[in-house]
Amino acid sequence: MDKKIILTADRPTGKLHIGHYVGSLKRRVELQNEGNYDELYIMIADTQALTDNFKDPMKVKDNVIEVALDYLSCGIDPTKSTIFIQSQIPELFELTTYFLDLVTLSRLERNPTVKTEMKTKDYDTSIPVGFLCYPVSQSADIALFDTSIVPAGEDQSPMIEQCQELVHKFNSLYGETLVSPTIMLPENNSCRRLPGIDGKAKMSKSLNNCIYLSDDETTVNKKVMSMYTDPEHLKITDKGHTENNPVFIYLDAFATDEDFKTYLPEYKNLAALKKHYEDGGLGDTTVKKFLAKVLNAKLEPIRNRRYELEKDIASVYNILDEGNKKAREHAKKTITRIRRALKIDYFSDNTFVTKQQKRFNNEHKKREEYLAYLAKTRK
Ligand code: TRP
Repeated sequence: MDKKIILTADRPTGKLHIGHYVGSLKRRVELQNEGNYDELYIMIADTQALTDNFKDPMKVKDNVIEVALDYLSCGIDPTKSTIFIQSQIPELFELTTYFLDLVTLSRLERNPTVKTEMKTKDYDTSIPVGFLCYPVSQSADIALFDTSIVPAGEDQSPMIEQCQELVHKFNSLYGETLVSPTIMLPENNSCRRLPGIDGKAKMSKSLNNCIYLSDDETTVNKKVMSMYTDPEHLKITDKGHTENNPVFIYLDAFATDEDFKTYLPEYKNLAALKKHYEDGGLGDTTVKKFLAKVLNAKLEPIRNRRYELEKDIASVYNILDEGNKKAREHAKKTITRIRRALKIDYFSDNTFVTKQQKRFNNEHKKREEYLAYLAKTRK
């Protein structure tokens, strides 16, 4: 049980964007290739996606393949990582049921991420129970695979805490059974969350402010040229702000000194470019053109790999099917351990049947002795 097991997941509600890339995908590929783990799972959380998309199951279904294509084109290698689909692992829902005994309604209502999500959905008066309970189901995702490390963004911290609490409660009630996970936050600060191209705090499909990994060159150029920058930087000669300026936040996340050599040799590095912008005299268009080049260079190999993969969708489903089988092997082992801890392993514990038989035999013996005594004294 001292294995190093990594698990992450995404909800299949849309194609993945560059925010996902810097926030998590890039790190996953690095982790995968460093090879410093025993098992690495990447789950497509379709069941969790249904908690707030239950009216549109086709949307979830269609996006499973999109997310799988995004993973593979970014460099997730199915020989090293196990990609699987949440709904295909029934043991997850079994563990969720046991976990539900160990959490209170008020604890679920306190989850800050769920609170924020609820506001955007106007659920105030009638919250679907499945939605409120998704942190419990997510805890099962993590615990079922004996996960020790969950690479994820800050917004997932409350889920990991919930999981730690449930694991602790389970272990203290039923004996050491489950592994307590820790979150692995992104290292680079600017990588924690990319703002949208409109300057809104979050890149999100519903806000229509994303640059997708699968966007073509023209689309990327158009989106970058339309980006929100410093609203006080009106004329080239104006002094500009680089902080909280999405164009510079993207450059923080993507531009390397090498990119400067290739596309903008007038500047040695990002610090030099920022200084010029802040001092005044540098126009947004120059910065945006550079950013578009940097992004396109980064996305080009990803796009090309995706294009190749899209020619054989059956093979991609095959990879998922194989992943499901591998994940299920692990799931079955853990659920056996869990059932044993919960005393519901009726058909795998012969010694217990023998013990129970002994107890009944003893009772029978006593009864017979008593009957014999009665028969004797009545005479
Ligand atoms: N809640 C995560 C998200 O919205 C997805 C997710 C489901 C997840 N199960 C998980 C993340 C387990 C990490 C571990 O992105």
